[in-house]
Amino acid sequence: MSLTIAESIEAVRSQVAVAKAAGLSVGFVPTMGALHRGHATLVEEATKACDYVVVSIFVNPTQFGPNEDFSRYPRTFVADRAVCEEAGADLIFLPDVATMYPPGPPATFVEVPGLSDVFEGAIRPGHFRGVATVVLKLFGIVCPNLAFFGQKDFQQQLVLRRMVTDLNFPVQLVTVPTVREDDGLAMSSRNRYLSAEERQAARVLSQALRLAEDAVRSGERSADRVRQILASTVQSERLATLDYGDVVDALTLEPLTDLTGRRAVALLAARVGPARLIDNAILPD
Ligand code: PAJ
Repeated sequence: MSLTIAESIEAVRSQVAVAKAAGLSVGFVPTMGALHRGHATLVEEATKACDYVVVSIFVNPTQFGPNEDFSRYPRTFVADRAVCEEAGADLIFLPDVATMYPPGPPATFVEVPGLSDVFEGAIRPGHFRGVATVVLKLFGIVCPNLAFFGQKDFQQQLVLRRMVTDLNFPVQLVTVPTVREDDGLAMSSRNRYLSAEERQAARVLSQALRLAEDAVRSGERSADRVRQILASTVQSERLATLDYGDVVDALTLEPLTDLTGRRAVALLAARVGPARLIDNAILPD
């Protein structure tokens, strides 16, 4: 099947309706473009699980804060289209801002309090409100059976799972493990902001997570001890500034004391030069 580009909501609806009428299952991968191998992996997983795969490319203004990188966020459609084609997508939804947010103040937002207020949400107020709102709008446009998200944005997939559950939205979310560069750095559209020296320094996030995993695998059960490993490792890198390094319950994001019998995730965020980088690891049982 060849790749179709749809810029209007009506075009997406009619293409998806044709696919569904033919009995095809629909997979959906929402993105902001600047696609890399992490995104491509989501699309490949979607093509394995579903008959018809839609990728959206939309740099969503409502999830960026006033001093964030909305205007300079990389926009690379020609390369993105090639990534989608190669990975086997059937349809790209490429709306402009006026299509997603018609002029006039938007009146309806989706909020997922609690999960949205900590970590990324604490540092980026309103971020998850923007994410949840645009993803629900996209779900309402695409009507997918399955939607694919990256573990890289651990808190985002938890917020969206909670939204879908609470609103009884008929879509199943699939979380795909983080795709990394050979040296461990989690792939991110924001990695291209890094200079060569900063790119080297950015390895410290995945190194810290690996040390935390190793400690837990060797029997460490104190969450505080693991927090210390995260913090001291990141702080040992001159070019990195730690935003947070924490060990929390992987479903509720509540801080943990003792890891025994808990499904725990280590969450890390740091600034390296002009980029804010996040990464995480589910800790071994
Ligand atoms: P974006 O940052 O473009 O990411 C799109 C999807 O790709 C997200 O689900 C993200 O978790 C996943 N992803 C990014 N890097 C990855 C990696 N290294 N490995 C695996 N998956 C990775 O996240 C967003 O866009 C937006 O918030 C969006 C959900 C599209 C709403 O605007």
